[in-house]
Amino acid sequence: MSLTNFYLRGEQPRARWKRLDTAQILKRFFFCERSLIVGASAWIPHLYDLEVKMAVPYFCWQNAETANDLRERIFELRFPSKMIEHEGADRPLAALLAEIRNAPTASAFLTAWGSMGLAALRDAYREFLDHSDPLADAPTYRFLELSLREKEKQISTLMAWAAQESASDLSNRTRTENWTAEFSNQLAFLGGIGTDTAPPNVEVAPIPGSQSIAVPDLPARDPRYWSCRFYWPDIIDAEFPYGEGLLLQLRSAVSHLNEVWAVEHGGIILSEFSDVLPWEWIRDAARWTYDESRHCRMGQNRLSAWGFDPSEVPLGSYIYESAKGTQPIYRLGMLYFFETKNIGRKPERTAVFKEIGDEASEHDMDFDWADETIHATYGNRWLRALHELDSGKYPAAAKVREDCEFLVKKMIASASTAEKSAITQRAHSMIQRAEELAKQ
Ligand SMILES: [Fe+2]
Ligand SMILES: [Fe+2]
Repeated sequence: MSLTNFYLRGEQPRARWKRLDTAQILKRFFFCERSLIVGASAWIPHLYDLEVKMAVPYFCWQNAETANDLRERIFELRFPSKMIEHEGADRPLAALLAEIRNAPTASAFLTAWGSMGLAALRDAYREFLDHSDPLADAPTYRFLELSLREKEKQISTLMAWAAQESASDLSNRTRTENWTAEFSNQLAFLGGIGTDTAPPNVEVAPIPGSQSIAVPDLPARDPRYWSCRFYWPDIIDAEFPYGEGLLLQLRSAVSHLNEVWAVEHGGIILSEFSDVLPWEWIRDAARWTYDESRHCRMGQNRLSAWGFDPSEVPLGSYIYESAKGTQPIYRLGMLYFFETKNIGRKPERTAVFKEIGDEASEHDMDFDWADETIHATYGNRWLRALHELDSGKYPAAAKVREDCEFLVKKMIASASTAEKSAITQRAHSMIQRAEELAKQ
């Protein structure tokens, strides 16, 4: 008897997506993640609330790690091909999600990012995990399950903030609602973020009421803090000591909080160079920006644990403002040169905090030091990459450093007498309060 026409059955649900189908779906996810990371990062300097401003880099870092895992997995599945630099059939989806950058209000941005863009990705990940193969595709399972849990948290946080923003910005409510409704319609028209099917091949039209956000000359600052340009007198007054003991505790916490400018620069350069530099740039910049947001929160946390109210604490903008009107490479330069400037002093300060028994400052300073050593590598690598890409447009690192130093010196020289006396008074009040708190 011939067995030629008889076979064992292989209709198992897990065989639904073959190797290259899976790679195709993961590629769509990668480009959707990428668009949302770039669009959201551009919003960082425009957000007032410090909690919201600091959450953007956190979520972008989580999602950049997912995107990187997706990318690595696509390479594995398509080995030896390394070709995923273009969206291909997923271009309309990537283009629509990138529109969160052009949302007309912060509330519209938070809604489109969280309840729509990230929610569509969450749904797609859920669907993927329901139908893909936990055996053959186990490596994808591991990181996508983690990302699904992260997305749930991101979405609920962003929804709450979008509602809060909307309630505080009633005059723009109709504008926000019209824009988000149209964003949602367009996403639905593309079929959401699909698994089996690519979006229809259409040109994404700009959403009516969009407002293209440029890099702002002045960063949005949380009104709960004491707003200024120079956040401690020693920046503009050589006579005022950086300080030791209690003064150093205070100065160091205020410095950490004031790394807010570094977070803003990180977000700006991530998005500004996203189409100039390769994916690795976005991944590094997402981590860099997130690290700076942790440094800022370390200061915020120590000051509030000591008992300071935000209204007592100066939140400055002089380094951010020094880069006004310059090319984004100068914001990269400032982030690199001014953030790593004190790298050598950090172990010294960590030791001082240990000696005086300030464990929190010691701990924060030591972790910060480890982050800064990574940032030094980022700065070197990407300034060099830009210069090699186009030496006419992007000056060499030494020239960028020189110009950055000049710009900041010029800014410091512009400090007025009124600013100087106001910040000196503010610092003295903080020192006095710190002495009282220390005695309690
Ligand atoms: Fe930092
Ligand atoms: Fe840094």
